Amino acid sequence: MTEGDDARELSITSDTTRRSVILLDVPWQARVRELGPRRLLVADATLGRWANDLAGDIGADGVMLLELGEEKKTLGTVERVYNWLSEQGATRDTVVAALGGGTCTDLVGFACATYLRGIAWAAIPTSLLAQVDAAIGGKVGVNTAFGKNLVGAFHLPQMVAVDTKFLSTLPLRQWRAGLGEVLKSALIQGGWLYDILSEVDLEEGSVGVWAEIVRETAKIKVALVNQDLYESGPRMFLNLGHTIGHAIENLLGYGVMTHGEAIGLGTLAALRLSERTRGLSPAVRERVSAWLTRWGLPKVMPALEFSRLWQQLYRDKKARTGGLTWVLLEDVGRPVLVRELDAELVRSVVEELKR
Ligand SMILES: NC(=O)c1ccc[n+]([C@@H]2O[C@H](COP(=O)([O-])OP(=O)(O)OC[C@H]3O[C@@H](n4cnc5c(N)ncnc54)[C@H](O)[C@@H]3O)[C@@H](O)[C@H]2O)c1
Ligand SMILES: [Zn+2]
Repeated sequence: MTEGDDARELSITSDTTRRSVILLDVPWQARVRELGPRRLLVADATLGRWANDLAGDIGADGVMLLELGEEKKTLGTVERVYNWLSEQGATRDTVVAALGGGTCTDLVGFACATYLRGIAWAAIPTSLLAQVDAAIGGKVGVNTAFGKNLVGAFHLPQMVAVDTKFLSTLPLRQWRAGLGEVLKSALIQGGWLYDILSEVDLEEGSVGVWAEIVRETAKIKVALVNQDLYESGPRMFLNLGHTIGHAIENLLGYGVMTHGEAIGLGTLAALRLSERTRGLSPAVRERVSAWLTRWGLPKVMPALEFSRLWQQLYRDKKARTGGLTWVLLEDVGRPVLVRELDAELVRSVVEELKR
């Protein structure tokens, strides 16, 4: 990232012609209008109260409201979007704006990646999790019966408009879920973000500090994606906590734990594994554990049989032919990729987390 720390406009460039502009709390409505001659808006129905005004602001010809959430992030919902796009006469120069949380941006982005072999889209993320992570970087996809996000594509949005005003209506549980991803980025990066988390209190959270936290976390993602769009190196650091986290989500079934809750637990496991294999100081885990308690995120592993968890890990997309890649920490701000870990080691850490 070449921009200074207070930059509000960043970009990600792919090896093809696509450029993805990320706007952080700067006026964006007119910028969406400039993206193409015709705009359509697909919004999470929960955001219905913003959707009509917003359609006017961006000059959208049509608005589709969708019931979304993890269990609705499916090919069936994608097909409804295709049908609607077709009814609206969407062509290859139509730009689709997606307004909602990460399930909305993942799903609508995937529909846009595949409709007419790819049309342009813009993400307007409204949840903390989507603003700091899901909407940035062009990974789009859906859940299937065999696992989360296993069908998808890389399809950069032309624009990601991060507007923290949307957070004013976010329910408490979703703040917690977003904090799971913020925590992950803070551990990867260290510095200001890691220090400020000690002051985060969801009871008294002021939007002022939140806006800075959102921008800083988003910048960490942009920087990593810029180094490695197709996720074969540093972008994988963003999977800290996700190896075990995804397996928990998959085994519990969608919707039992939020993504961020499972990632919080997966991060605790990754920290323990880092202590055992990389000499990470237990003080980091103690600190993170205190934060999870304060934020109301779960710290106890659900009673899942280890053999099932282990099997699920290897079904996860992060398993490559060469084995499973884990993200561990040598220290705060010093992530490392580790191929394969001993099953007994992982078992002992998982068992410790059940207590
Ligand atoms: N593509 C990526 O790189 C990437 C990265 C991280 C996560 N993800 C995906 O993101 C998804 C999780 O995203 P999420 O937590 O935003 O889930 P979500 O889209 O289900 O949103 C969570 C809930 O908050 C509601 N909501 C969203 N914004 C709101 C607002 N401003 N006010 C009131 N309610 C609001 C939604 O209606 C939903 O009920 C997962 O499917 C995960 O796999 C993708
Ligand atoms: Zn995640």
